[in-house]
Amino acid sequence: MSTATSPVYYDPYSAEIAADPQPTYRRLRDEAPLYYNDAHDFFAMSRYADCEAGIKDWATFSSKRGNIVELIKAGFEMPSGVLIYEDPPVHTIHRGLLSRVFTPKKMLALEDKVRAFCADCLDPHVGSEGFDFIADLGALVPMRTIGMLLGIPDEDQEALRDRPEAQMRTKDGKPMRMTPKFAAGAAFADYVDWRAKNPSDDIMTMLIEAEFEDEHGVERRLTREEILTYVNVISGAGNETTIHVIGWAGSVLAENPDQRTELHHDPSLIPGAIEELLRYQPPAPHAARYVTRDVELYGQTVPAGSTIVFVTGAANRDDRRFEEPDRFDIHRRGPHLTFGFGIHFCLGAALARLEGRVVLEEVLARFPEWHVDEGKARLAQSSTVSGWETLPVSVR
Ligand code: HEM
Repeated sequence: MSTATSPVYYDPYSAEIAADPQPTYRRLRDEAPLYYNDAHDFFAMSRYADCEAGIKDWATFSSKRGNIVELIKAGFEMPSGVLIYEDPPVHTIHRGLLSRVFTPKKMLALEDKVRAFCADCLDPHVGSEGFDFIADLGALVPMRTIGMLLGIPDEDQEALRDRPEAQMRTKDGKPMRMTPKFAAGAAFADYVDWRAKNPSDDIMTMLIEAEFEDEHGVERRLTREEILTYVNVISGAGNETTIHVIGWAGSVLAENPDQRTELHHDPSLIPGAIEELLRYQPPAPHAARYVTRDVELYGQTVPAGSTIVFVTGAANRDDRRFEEPDRFDIHRRGPHLTFGFGIHFCLGAALARLEGRVVLEEVLARFPEWHVDEGKARLAQSSTVSGWETLPVSVR
């Protein structure tokens, strides 16, 4: 690991850095605002203003080869519909289609169901010694919520549960294993076929029936393949990230018991607390891009064809942007880059916020206090997301 006298070293594969990234992030911002990693051949930017400007400039910093270093370098042809990995004009068309159903109003309609599911997860632990924020809550609620959004019947939901996060795990210090299947998995295929014959008022039916003008000017419906891709993108983007918001809520509030008590007494503060949690411990702390043209940054030329990582987890703690950025403060109001910025801004942000709020309301209503079992808590091994693999807490 870097010391104060050696040049700063950063890569998203280092388990040591991932376990405690903020000292490295601080050095990146202060000492190497444009950083180059020789070993893995990528650039990185870490200041808030630079990340915001870079992520916004999709024409220079393109998503079309992916947003993960190894994916960009692997050079896969992405199937149509993986909008997170598309640039305009195709991205605009696909995003327009999905935005029709990802409205805050549609998300709010799920609230009662999400709340009831949280109660089912938590009630068995009332009166017990404790529970695990991941195994008993985080690993269950987000996937079930995506299932509700897609209209998947309850009895079919269990089978989908462990699929996407297994894909995101990495071995210590190693990149993610990339396969084209990542983007076009077939886990939902049976359900798509069933829903085509049994329409309802969910996203899946909307995707099956939507008519739109494609990038060739043809008025048509989505193909089965495209629908499967959409659904895999939604579940890939919305599951693992939200699991980690729930985990971080467990550990960060345990570290800040006074603020937890405040939230218990005044649940109207919970949405602000979730926002601060997202800033403080972002589940997806970096977004990579492919550089489409030579670009001058900090007096250096970043050549066309390079890979660049915008370290949003570092940007969120930039003292050029935030007062006392390392202080967790549920009363803080302000932006963060945890949901990205610009044309790829997270489509599921309203849903993720809703889940975070409802989970926390339901936890605090039953358990005003908890203590993390630090001997057993373990961080997830992943180069793409940040959070707990397991977070057991005692509630007595
Ligand atoms: C707290 C949880 C979440 C976090 C931190 C998060 C983060 C992000 C980020 C950073 C991006 C942009 C990636 C980039 O610019 O390369 C993104 C895009 C996206 N997210 Fe989320 N996300 C979360 C939850 C969700 C949920 C619950 C869903 C859906 C159910 C979802 C669906 C999407 C989709 C479809 C995109 C692609 C948007 C586009 O490319 O236009 N996300 N998310």
